Amino acid sequence: NSLVRFPLKKVRGIPLMEHIAQNFESVWAFCPDYTDILIATFPKSGTTWTQEIVDLLLHNGDIEACRRDPIPVRSPFLEYFCCPPIPSGLDQLCMMSPPRIIKTHLPIQLVPEGFWENKCKVIYVARNAKDNLVSNYHFDRMNLTMPEPGPWENYIQKYMRGELTYGPWYDHVKGYWEEKEKRNILYLFYEDMKENPEREVERIAQYLDLSVTDDVIACVVELTSFEVMKKNPMANYSFIPKAVFDHSISPFMRKGEVGDWANHFSASQLEIFDEDYEQQMKMANIPFRTNVKK
Ligand code: PPS
Repeated sequence: NSLVRFPLKKVRGIPLMEHIAQNFESVWAFCPDYTDILIATFPKSGTTWTQEIVDLLLHNGDIEACRRDPIPVRSPFLEYFCCPPIPSGLDQLCMMSPPRIIKTHLPIQLVPEGFWENKCKVIYVARNAKDNLVSNYHFDRMNLTMPEPGPWENYIQKYMRGELTYGPWYDHVKGYWEEKEKRNILYLFYEDMKENPEREVERIAQYLDLSVTDDVIACVVELTSFEVMKKNPMANYSFIPKAVFDHSISPFMRKGEVGDWANHFSASQLEIFDEDYEQQMKMANIPFRTNVKK
């Protein structure tokens, strides 16, 4: 199908989906309002989960709020240009009034300057590399606009070399980590959110200067659990046509777990990956709990 499986094209050294690369200059020129909130992640790190949490927090945990529109309509994907019936991120942002919850996967150096100049709140979510890799692999199988993932063995190599969309995971997580104090970024870990969602939802509320009751926090935690979001048609991406997202290959809400990597890596693949990881991350000092199981 000529409509699908876009090639990647580099922008300032970072491979992006072709339609994103071609429109990048208009994304770069985007100027947010100072009240806009940016949720930044390397793909498959807990973006949708965090978008749902922030949207519900802004609506005081109202259940109707998270069912009013599909998540990419409630919280536009900044750099996105092609996924009918959803319009481009920039077109949607134009139609909305601030504060808007904006999703991006751009590495920090490609985030439009206006976010920093206007001191917007920026929430970054990082997920351990091995689970992130597994989640990206299954997503590239089911998202028929992504380049073919090919065999798992080769996919691991491409991930380690930073050849997948948005470039190296290693540089992405380090880029935001190094700037988090200077730019007042809230840096979260997927594994912490799984371990204690109440604590992390509360941290998000505090960072956004929202005063919410314990009941609202409990409600947000419940409505944003994997099980509830998987069943919510406005959060589970079932609204995307099957020619684009084929959930019969792998659902968007796939497992939502920590440690699924153990079901994918062979012993030798693990050894090679871990050795390379040590090299790429040795100066980083980011407290990833890489080997946590559940
Ligand atoms: S995307 O396409 O980059 O926006 O995807 P993203 O939302 O970042 O990541 C998708 C993975 O997050 C899991 N997920 C969740 N985990 C726990 N709790 C909740 N509520 C939740 N919602 C989504 C989703 O299942 C994908 O992970 P995997 O490991 O593939 O299941």
